[in-house]
Amino acid sequence: GMAVTKICCIGAGYVGGPTCSVIAMQCPHIKVTVVDISAQRISQWNSEKLPIYEPGLDDIVKKQRNVNLFFSTNIEESIQEADLIFISVNTPTMTFGVGKGRAVDLTYVENSARTIAQFSTSDKIVVEKSTVPVRAAESILKILSANDKPNVKFQVISNPEFLSEGVAVENLLNPDRVIIGHEETADGLWAFKQLSKVYLNWIPESKILKTNIWSSELTKLAANAFLADRISSINSISVICEAIGADISEVAKGIGLDSRIGRQFLQASVGFGGSCFQKDLLSLVYICECLNLPRVAVYWQQVLDMNVYQKSRFSNKIIESLFNTVTGKKITMFGFAFKKDTGDTRESPAIHVAKTLLDKGAKLNIYDPKVDPEQIKKDLTHPYVSDNPENVFKFIEIHDNPYRASHSTDAIVICTEWDEFVNLDYEEIYKSMKKPAFIFDGRKILNHETLATIGFQVHTIGKGHKTINMSSELTKLAINAFLARRISNINSM
Ligand code: NAD
Ligand code: UDX
Repeated sequence: GMAVTKICCIGAGYVGGPTCSVIAMQCPHIKVTVVDISAQRISQWNSEKLPIYEPGLDDIVKKQRNVNLFFSTNIEESIQEADLIFISVNTPTMTFGVGKGRAVDLTYVENSARTIAQFSTSDKIVVEKSTVPVRAAESILKILSANDKPNVKFQVISNPEFLSEGVAVENLLNPDRVIIGHEETADGLWAFKQLSKVYLNWIPESKILKTNIWSSELTKLAANAFLADRISSINSISVICEAIGADISEVAKGIGLDSRIGRQFLQASVGFGGSCFQKDLLSLVYICECLNLPRVAVYWQQVLDMNVYQKSRFSNKIIESLFNTVTGKKITMFGFAFKKDTGDTRESPAIHVAKTLLDKGAKLNIYDPKVDPEQIKKDLTHPYVSDNPENVFKFIEIHDNPYRASHSTDAIVICTEWDEFVNLDYEEIYKSMKKPAFIFDGRKILNHETLATIGFQVHTIGKGHKTINMSSELTKLAINAFLARRISNINSM
């Protein structure tokens, strides 16, 4: 068959939008149409203010939109004309029924497959880009073939996405690798080649990994499990640091310089958030249980347990330090997004911190440079967070300026590592705050000595107050713990 000239992407979200914008930019000869059932999302993609904030994305969309990049609600037409269709819809954790709170809800993927089957009038390559449980491609294929029309053939391939929010454009332009899993048949290989050709427009062949479908699906879950594991591992060491008077920054540096471990992704924090890690770990745990592998399930569950522990440790430290009561106190939150350079708040640790403080009667002044105030209100009045939305509105104020947000408050809590928080005028801020003025740096981004000199009571993650610094002893133990853990990680897979 001929090369791909028309691509349809089902799902105009954090993955579908940026991925297709970059494909359109790098492949001027391909028409890319992103469709969604949400008319509001599509109209935002067609407006001046895109539905998501991602550095560099606005420029690309402005350049390609209505040239070879289209955002549309006409799903039928877009499917009909496409040679290749990405499924990049949401795959959230189930909220009811069997597997509630753990298994992945495949409703949206299944509906996409049904829609593809319904509207297709010619052969299609269907690409599973959403993160799914292992063997989901099989279900997609079953739905497609059960609804086959004469002369319409479907090939399903797996092509998980590894982009990370805040650096999505960078990741898409220069990915570490692209994984494409295909059926081991002539048609499967043909489909693999078609999708490869798209990526070869800007990605070197050596970075394209050809695998079978099941390996490809498992690789995505395993990669996220390994990454989340690193954060829980370093956070677990941060707990020890606080107990023995070591400093997690020193220990992390000592660990990271071991080339077998590497320096990236060793930032101890208030805990990890984002739409992927928790969901994908829960999914992995659930799969292991269904496969009757309880030991492996328990092994990965611990990564989640450590994250819950880290979030509550931080929230509790705030309350304890504020003389064990925050009732009626005003606390400033700097940052609400789950990481810097995104407006996304899904599973943000800030939500956990806010909930704990609100439950104890604190008033919150919240400032985030990119998060939509409506989103903050939505998150804090969600039934999981509060059973009294009216009360929440009385106790939170959302600010658009960090100085006003911290004026007359008792404490500042840093929940997101936004660069702009580093360079604020903390002398000015100190003067306007109630005394004693506290700073809780949940991201370890500020200069704590300078803040202490100004007069702040400073608390952070992974720094003990003992006289003997035990960092060097702990580093040696931690390196071996990290290495052994890596081997156990891969053995579990
Ligand atoms: P998202 O919620 O931002 O976007 C999904 C979109 O799909 C929504 O706009 C929704 O309206 C639309 N949709 C749902 N069902 C549809 C249907 N039947 N037809 C048309 N549109 C439909 O989700 P996301 O963050 O882009 O994630 C998408 C997938 O990619 C998930 O499986 C996720 O695990 C995976 N992933 C996400 C990231 C990330 O950083 N966000 C990274 C890698 C992989
Ligand atoms: C993650 C994966 O990195 C990406 O490959 C996958 O495709 C989707 O899930 P994302 O959730 O967008 O990406 O961001 P990531 O940078 O991984 O951060 C996730 C969370 O971990 C954030 O809350 C971040 O602040 C936290 N984190 C990250 C740490 O606490 N310490 C670190 O060292 C790194």
